[in-house]
Amino acid sequence: MQMMTASSLTQIHPPPKIDPRRFRDALGQFVTGVTLVTAKAGAADRVGVTVNSFTSVSLDPPLVLFCLGRQAQTLPVILSARSFAVNVLGRDQQAIAERFALDPRSWGGVDTAVWVTGAPILRDVPAALDCQLYATHDGGDHVIVIGRVVQLEGSEDAAPLGYYGGRYVGIDRRDPAGSVE
Ligand SMILES: Cc1cc2nc3c(=O)[nH]c(=O)nc-3n(C[C@H](O)[C@H](O)[C@H](O)COP(=O)(O)O)c2cc1C
Repeated sequence: MQMMTASSLTQIHPPPKIDPRRFRDALGQFVTGVTLVTAKAGAADRVGVTVNSFTSVSLDPPLVLFCLGRQAQTLPVILSARSFAVNVLGRDQQAIAERFALDPRSWGGVDTAVWVTGAPILRDVPAALDCQLYATHDGGDHVIVIGRVVQLEGSEDAAPLGYYGGRYVGIDRRDPAGSVE
């Protein structure tokens, strides 16, 4: 079978214009969790950003990734710290997601610890992963950030926060697929 490369596709079919609204609507049908990606900015400064583009990449080595807008204030901090943490938010932590989507330094009332890298780890989250920067790749108007997990914790029975159709949703693991009438 002949491999279809990006350049041969471009020559045969000029990239079609994709309407941004329809693009967002289609992507909104993909259910995700919601994370707070954090990084240490200096001795007394730290930042966080709400991210739902998080996914696992590799088991060995243990790699995860997320995509971060090139203009995001958190990006240069992660690149200079060469580390970050991914905090998976629970269904009762929507307010944290909303705040950090607007302000990367809205730490008031958020209880944190540090593990290996110095990136803030939120207490009482369903899961947290402390990561060293492993690689970055071009992702158009975003940068694909890959981290190697150096420490992690996860709860067996936490109820995570989800994001679907442009809205936050609670996800209850007691709702198995197919159970909805
Ligand atoms: C639910 C949700 C998920 C988001 N996911 C991402 C993401 O994966 N990548 C990203 O760059 N921005 C994402 N954002 C937007 C960022 O949280 C933030 O608003 C944006 O990066 C602007 O950051 P700035 O204040 O540093 O410019 C998301 C926002 C929300 C509300």
